[in-house]
Amino acid sequence: MKVYLETYGCQMNEYDSELIRSILAPHGHEMTAAVEEAEVVLINTCAIRENAHRKIYGRLDMLRPLKKEKKRFVVGVLGCMAQNLKEELFDHPVVSLIVGPDSYRSLPKLIDEVIGTDRQEIEAYLSEYETYGDIAPTRVEGVNAWVAIMRGCDNFCTFCVVPYTRGRERSRSIENILSEVRSLAQKGYRQVTLLGQNVNSYRDEGKRFADLILKVADVPGIERVRFTSPHPKDFPKPLLEAIASHPRICKHIHLPLQAGSDRILDLMARTYTRKEYLRLVEEIRRTIPEIALTTDIIVGFPTETEEDFQETAGLFKDGQFDSAYIFKYSERKGTIASRKYPDDVPPEVKTDRIVRLIDLQRAISLQKNREKIGRTLTVLIDGEADGPGKGAATSKRPGHQMGKTEGNTTVVFPRTPFGPGTMVSVRIHDVSSSTLYGRPVER
Ligand code: 5AD
Ligand code: SF4
Repeated sequence: MKVYLETYGCQMNEYDSELIRSILAPHGHEMTAAVEEAEVVLINTCAIRENAHRKIYGRLDMLRPLKKEKKRFVVGVLGCMAQNLKEELFDHPVVSLIVGPDSYRSLPKLIDEVIGTDRQEIEAYLSEYETYGDIAPTRVEGVNAWVAIMRGCDNFCTFCVVPYTRGRERSRSIENILSEVRSLAQKGYRQVTLLGQNVNSYRDEGKRFADLILKVADVPGIERVRFTSPHPKDFPKPLLEAIASHPRICKHIHLPLQAGSDRILDLMARTYTRKEYLRLVEEIRRTIPEIALTTDIIVGFPTETEEDFQETAGLFKDGQFDSAYIFKYSERKGTIASRKYPDDVPPEVKTDRIVRLIDLQRAISLQKNREKIGRTLTVLIDGEADGPGKGAATSKRPGHQMGKTEGNTTVVFPRTPFGPGTMVSVRIHDVSSSTLYGRPVER
């Protein structure tokens, strides 16, 4: 059958879609990029905020005419929204298949059961063991490969749906991960990004994340290793030392803060205080002075006052992040916050706070980028700067290539003779808050 697969959400979902391609291939299913051609449409979904759900419902609406037109046509909702809403999704008339993140091995069987019939099937059990460790993902070609090192999450931050959609935390074995990374290097991937909801709780028979990342960075052919994300509550010294000492581990840490007020951090069950977070930032900068730090923030968590918000803004000034992803709180079904704390910050207040915080961060990012003017940075080439789906509008420039610094900032520079996956030195002469512009130079 011809299968069209669309992916929303985080890198873990991108990775899962690669696994799904591998699960379907031996059953004679063929992937297609044209939805009109497909007999099976699979949408791998996200549940993290309400607008993720809205987007999927919009997409399902767009499939209505195809569903009417075609006799053999299956629409399956996969991933986090499937796990979160379960049968509720059958209320949408096009959906006949619902499959959660731990049930992808059943996909071929489930597709066979529903295709050409009026049946609906759902499989959304969470597993304590499934890591898909034996399945080699079918990746689209590129410079970077995502590698899930663990699945699920045991943190239960009160706002977050992930522990309910992806279940309990489980790690893949080091050997299993290393053999995947070795084969990636042979296939020409130059960068791997290790993925987990909280990489600092990775464990494999007494070995921890720092042991794993050092081994991954030693795989011949891999030039850069990234990871996302660690939880600030249990950041181990050996990991800092690993990042500091290994030239192929990127000097970038994404360290989600979520809020700068102790009262809100407590309601979020983040288990650290503002002071502890700042102390960690200091220790990171002392150990690795050139580190790039990025973060995630939620504004408008229940009961957040202007004073609480000001504490977050103040921490931005003290913490000097290179960049930040800032979100408005969105109440999620099944979470602790949805049961305990009414979503009482008015939408216009959330909007006002997000706008102010984005403006503040933009000024800080611009300042930090300006400090790079005149410096020569090592850039891993991603591809053409005006390629489809690449980067922000500001980085689309014909005749130019783009790439990433170690700190994960986008750099745009006149086209070189080198292709994606090559490291070049670029001297920076101009910047915006999100992009560096430069010229390639000989070192
Ligand atoms: N509302 C808004 N943002 C959220 N995030 C997680 N859950 C929610 C929610 N309910 C944000 C957090 C997390 C990032 C991936 O998404 O900042 O780090
Ligand atoms: Fe990824 Fe979380 Fe969205 Fe699931 S809910 S796709 S884990 S961001």
